[in-house]
Amino acid sequence: MNPHLRDVAIPNDWDRRGLPGWSYHSTALLELEKEHVFRNHWQIAGHVCDIPNAGDYLTLDVIGERALIVRGKDGVVRGFNNMCRHRGSRVVADSQGNCKNALVCPFHGWVYNLDGTLRGAARPRSFPDLDKTEFGLMPLDLEIWMGFIFIRFRNGGPQPSVAELLKPIEPEFAHYNAADMVPSWGIWTQKTPVNWKSVRDVDNEGYHVAMAHPALQDLYGATYFDEPFVNGVSRSFATYNPHAGRRWSVRNYVKIAPEPTHLPDHLRKAWVYYGIFPNAVLSVMPESVQFYQEFPLSTGETLLRGAIYRYRDESREQAAARYLSFRIDRDTMSEDVQLSVWSNESMLSESFEGFYFSDLEYGVRTHHDHLRKQLPVLGLETAPEEKDMWNLNDALRSQG
Ligand code: FES
Ligand SMILES: [Fe+2]
Repeated sequence: MNPHLRDVAIPNDWDRRGLPGWSYHSTALLELEKEHVFRNHWQIAGHVCDIPNAGDYLTLDVIGERALIVRGKDGVVRGFNNMCRHRGSRVVADSQGNCKNALVCPFHGWVYNLDGTLRGAARPRSFPDLDKTEFGLMPLDLEIWMGFIFIRFRNGGPQPSVAELLKPIEPEFAHYNAADMVPSWGIWTQKTPVNWKSVRDVDNEGYHVAMAHPALQDLYGATYFDEPFVNGVSRSFATYNPHAGRRWSVRNYVKIAPEPTHLPDHLRKAWVYYGIFPNAVLSVMPESVQFYQEFPLSTGETLLRGAIYRYRDESREQAAARYLSFRIDRDTMSEDVQLSVWSNESMLSESFEGFYFSDLEYGVRTHHDHLRKQLPVLGLETAPEEKDMWNLNDALRSQG
């Protein structure tokens, strides 16, 4: 069987430069990214198993926006702005929890039902004209795909529905029964001192695996390949090397992992990563499924966030394998953080002359192409004045 989902030929004469260096350090560009790339594109908030019961909630606090995902008494998962309609306070303060029967704003005590409708204001007689139906929590676009909760901070956007967007990977991903999974260790976050694009650039190619990731190289280095972004989705695929096991964690991982008979042959010894533009990855291993993503905190700081999910009825061997794959992944991530720091800081140097990509890094180029489509100002090699950035980008967009 052809392990490729799509055969995308790499052109002979593609432009091997990356995005201009200034774009990794421009505050004005960051505002444009929030506007055209983050607020209006689908973002993974979590998984339905993170909020299994009525009143369970999770929040996502990024790019100046606050999302609140809550499961209603009817079992339905809904998304709202985590913003009280009275004076804008957070309605819930924690990143995850349970609010019993209602959401009570910690500022003055307005009470919302779990479906977002306003139950009532505190001291209601002090609002003689309040029409409760006008003051429910503001809903967010929300779609559940294979158990993963996707939200959009701005209603509508340039992407189709999540179901449509992820259709190319659906048949393969469906083998993992992700909708039935449960959390492994919960949602994690971590800060890293680089521009978010530097994180993504490193993650979007496997050319560096042989040099920088000894455990991954041991596990699957000989077979790894990347399929570039097409219509917002990429895929990277690797099967275990026949003699994997020079390193302790890899040796034990391939030894302990039970034969995953629920998977078709080509996935039984495979790790697959599905990139979702602009900033997320869903990845699958025989014993677990995970998401990870990054959000800009400033031009030079990024929030990494993710979670690993496991089979509800996993065996002890599966659990051990999941722990070992987590260890391999954790080491890989810290190696990637270092690489992104070195690449990112170079762009402050006068001597930085841009990237020069290998054919094995074509995936990075296609991610940049997706960004350029939303932000044509990225086509400018020389940094525009910060104060002109917004208008210039608008003008270039309207030229289309
Ligand atoms: S801001 Fe929520 S009750 Fe006042
Ligand atoms: Fe890496």
